[in-house]
Amino acid sequence: MLADDPLSAGRESPDDLAPYRAAFAAVDADPNQMLVVAERDGRAVGTLQLTILPGLARRGACRGQIEAVRVARDERGGGLGAALTQWAIDEARRRGCRLVQLTSDVARPDAHRFYERLGFAATHVGFKLNLDAAPMTAIAPYRPDEGGVPVLHEQH
Ligand SMILES: CC(C)(COP(=O)(O)OP(=O)(O)OC[C@H]1O[C@@H](n2cnc3c(N)ncnc32)[C@H](O)[C@@H]1OP(=O)(O)O)[C@@H](O)C(=O)NCCC(=O)NCCS
Repeated sequence: MLADDPLSAGRESPDDLAPYRAAFAAVDADPNQMLVVAERDGRAVGTLQLTILPGLARRGACRGQIEAVRVARDERGGGLGAALTQWAIDEARRRGCRLVQLTSDVARPDAHRFYERLGFAATHVGFKLNLDAAPMTAIAPYRPDEGGVPVLHEQH
């Protein structure tokens, strides 16, 4: 389903499943990640990924991030996408999230209508930086006039 899509066809390849199996293992090992699959007669006909993102903003609110929403071509228009997305909304709420968010390619007006009907509002503009294509030195070094360079503390 990921490969059967004009926008992602060039990025996906079912010929080598090794990277997908490794990614699946990482998702499976992380309690903040969920993959849901809808199955009909033993065939996967719909899927999405839900990630629970803890954060400090909004008084320490968790948010649910929905990714990779796909319904098989011959199943579209029958309500399955809505059911999958509603599952993600309900699951995010059950886990204490106060917000559910997603991005959708600007070239998918049908999908935008679909999400708006489910109550999502296009209030933000999404930005992506493709790290496979971006040069390592795309951003100019930080050179404050005075005061020195702040120390960055990382919390892992
Ligand atoms: C978008 C998608 C997940 C919706 O799933 P679905 O099961 O078809 O959705 P539902 O039946 O619950 O709702 C139908 C609505 O979905 C939207 N939709 C988007 N693409 C569609 C398609 N190819 N066929 C039918 N409906 C589609 C329409 O808004 C439709 O409403 P409409 O009948 O008023 O046009 C599914 O069509 C799909 O996988 N599309 C291709 C991949 C994609 O765009 N994914 C979203 C990435 S952000």
